[in-house]
Amino acid sequence: MAGIYLHIPFCRGKCAYCDFYSVATSKYQEDFVKALGKEIHIQKDYLQNEPIQTIYFGGGTPSLLKTDQLDYIISEIKKNFKLEENKEITLEANPDDLTHDYLKSIRQLGFNRLSIGIQSFNDQDLKRMKRKHTVNQAISSIRYAQDIGFNNISIDLIYGLPDLNLKDWGTNIDKAFDLNIQHISAYHLTIEPKTLFYKYYQNDKLNLPTEKESLDQFKMLIAKTKENGFLHYEISNFAQDGSISLHNTNYWMGVKYLGLGPSAHSYNLTSRQWNIQNLRGYLDGILKGKIPNEQEILTEKEKFNEFLITSLRTMCGISTERLKKEFGKEYYDFFITKSKKYLSNNLMINIANNFILTEKGMFISDSIMQDFFHD
Ligand SMILES: C[S@@+](CC[C@H](N)C(=O)[O-])C[C@H]1O[C@@H](n2cnc3c(N)ncnc32)[C@H](O)[C@@H]1O
Ligand code: SF4
Repeated sequence: MAGIYLHIPFCRGKCAYCDFYSVATSKYQEDFVKALGKEIHIQKDYLQNEPIQTIYFGGGTPSLLKTDQLDYIISEIKKNFKLEENKEITLEANPDDLTHDYLKSIRQLGFNRLSIGIQSFNDQDLKRMKRKHTVNQAISSIRYAQDIGFNNISIDLIYGLPDLNLKDWGTNIDKAFDLNIQHISAYHLTIEPKTLFYKYYQNDKLNLPTEKESLDQFKMLIAKTKENGFLHYEISNFAQDGSISLHNTNYWMGVKYLGLGPSAHSYNLTSRQWNIQNLRGYLDGILKGKIPNEQEILTEKEKFNEFLITSLRTMCGISTERLKKEFGKEYYDFFITKSKKYLSNNLMINIANNFILTEKGMFISDSIMQDFFHD
């Protein structure tokens, strides 16, 4: 079992918070699609013939691709890989691209999961984030998708935004549930270098919530999703029963995946590789028949760190039995010793030898994971 991730590096413009790799022009879109087809063929042995369970078109903005381009990419994947019957095929989409006709066509192509970047149900917030859509467009895109028969819809929301208060955040979450979606990915805003928000932040022009206010927003998210019967299965991910994202869960379970396109990462249990984060460099490399990427063989320590980050993010946490079996006594003792302070501070709990972050622990998960790194 394995997954394929395709990075589609085009956006209509750059959002104020985002540092995912993309270019704000459609100039090379056709060249890119052809190059991607070629890369699919060149990389066909990377997953060692494992059947593909999930395909994820991420970005950038995959919904900027035309339906015949998506059709071509999927058919190249089918030609070069063995696909499982009940595969999950996700399209990350921006609301302004999701017309009724477009949705109908992609459904026919086999897409059975949508991840729509709503970000907020407040027009003022959307404007400030430099989003290209309005709240009305966001709502219509979800309704159109449901009319056409999509029954596995995820939306992205961001909290911890400038000037966002608890009441408005609560209204945002309630709106999501009014729309009967199956999955929510909710991220706390991070201020990334080289973004517009970073510039504002440096000039003291962002009124960001305090740590306590952010934690309250996170707690409200957990409470409201729970009230609505959603499972909090990973720090930022919540799903209705039966709608957990298989693709992301496989990442966290350490399943092999192949990443295609500029800046995409791949992992096949022994090595990790990542493609160049530059569209021109990517196109030139592929044209010469060589993938412009770098590779590293993982050491035992790196495998442990990888296991730690991915497992701690999930609701199942770290199984210390699995840890001992896969990494041996030294790593096991290291983990048990380190975890003592987190257990006593109520940042972590131990349920039948599974060490799981509590709500408080999840909120500061980055610093906890760093502390656990074996060096
Ligand atoms: C690959 S991105 C965007 C996908 C799609 N192009 C869109 O805009 O809807 C996936 C998600 O990451 C989140 N995201 C990106 N940058 C972020 C940041 N700096 N802080 C918090 N969330 C962020 C957004 O919710 C975004 O929808
Ligand atoms: S959030 Fe989406 S649309 Fe905005 S810049 Fe990032 S990838 Fe592009």
